[in-house]
Amino acid sequence: MTEAARPARGAGRDIGLYVHWPYCARICPYCDFNVVRHRGRGDEAAALVAAILADLRAQAAGARRRRLVSIFFGGGTPSLMDAAAVSAIVESARGLFTTTPDLEVTLEANPTDAEADRFAAFAAAGVTRLSLGVQSLHDADLAFLGRNHDAAAARRAASVAARVFPRLSIDLIYALPGQTLADWRERLEAALSLGAEHVSAYQLTCEPGTAFERAVRRGEWAPSAADTAAALFETTQEMLGEAGLEPYEVSNHARGSGAQSRHNLIYWRGADYLGVGPGAHGRLTDDVGTRRARLTAKKVADYIAQVEATGAGLIEDEPLSAAEAALERLLMGLRTLEGVALGELAPLAIDRQEIGSLIGVGLLQQSDGRLVATRRGRVVLDRITLDLARSARQG
Ligand SMILES: C[S@@+](CC[C@H](N)C(=O)[O-])C[C@H]1O[C@@H](n2cnc3c(N)ncnc32)[C@H](O)[C@@H]1O
Ligand code: SF4
Repeated sequence: MTEAARPARGAGRDIGLYVHWPYCARICPYCDFNVVRHRGRGDEAAALVAAILADLRAQAAGARRRRLVSIFFGGGTPSLMDAAAVSAIVESARGLFTTTPDLEVTLEANPTDAEADRFAAFAAAGVTRLSLGVQSLHDADLAFLGRNHDAAAARRAASVAARVFPRLSIDLIYALPGQTLADWRERLEAALSLGAEHVSAYQLTCEPGTAFERAVRRGEWAPSAADTAAALFETTQEMLGEAGLEPYEVSNHARGSGAQSRHNLIYWRGADYLGVGPGAHGRLTDDVGTRRARLTAKKVADYIAQVEATGAGLIEDEPLSAAEAALERLLMGLRTLEGVALGELAPLAIDRQEIGSLIGVGLLQQSDGRLVATRRGRVVLDRITLDLARSARQG
């Protein structure tokens, strides 16, 4: 069989599309995402939209015959985008791939009134699912987090979103310094009253290079102790579970499987996705079955220049070894309640005794050929994956 005639390994398989919009009206002190302080209007933003569309066409050419199941506009603050730009990207993607009628199109939004006023236009542009960065419904928390909205605006935005979009998810942040179990219960109770079908509850982390990390180093405040954070995690599992929002990943809860984030499941299950926009990651299995790690230029100007020079925004497109791909499956798969198939981890040759001892202490369980982190294990997932990766004979 000639190389050209060889059937594409990825043909017909599901694929996702991530679109990164880097602009934010204000930079939050805890955020280490690829963001730029700018409203995303004017010539540069228009040039960025054109570059994203060109990059999408170029990357899609290498992933033909795939079935597009999800588009995710992440950021940054994609709710600052023009609805016409969102529409152009969705329409272009629909034209480049086979899609399903239930294509999930998620857009991340900040809950200010100005942005909520544009939700209807985003729905008309094809957005089916809004991921709203509520973070807290307590004004003092929002002030500490440096947010440019208050609790009342977040309630208004959630109410508009619930009317306008078929599906709504909210993001919350817990383990703020000094937060007690009673505080967090009250925050969760308030958040549940918004009626979202999906809740992402993230423990506050102090990432290197952020204003929060510098404040902690100066001794202005201390992050929550590990046992407090673990107790807050337990409270999250209990309260959201009782409200019918079952966990399906460490930080993510949904009202039934239909409400789960199809896009994030692509990452956690090791499926393929393209990434367009500045600093976007992608994973693509090529025609000979090699998984490739791809990355676009990080700075807006570099990304636009890269697309102009080469047609696509990619600055990295590297094959992963079988062991590297298996390590990614371990790190991603153990985050979910369905876990990861042991067969997928075979290239790592993980020490069986290490798995046995983690099962013995109740942090892992094994069933139907899958390795799954227990609820207690999910609290210390970083440690578990480190122990397993260290015991691997390949890596
Ligand atoms: C990339 S942000 C984009 C969403 C949107 N711009 C916003 O801020 O609402 C996605 C989510 O990550 C979470 N997040 C970002 N940095 C975090 C941190 N250091 N600790 C905990 N959660 C964080 C927040 O809940 C945020 O809503
Ligand atoms: S948390 Fe959201 S709004 Fe704040 S800087 Fe990060 S991406 Fe922008």
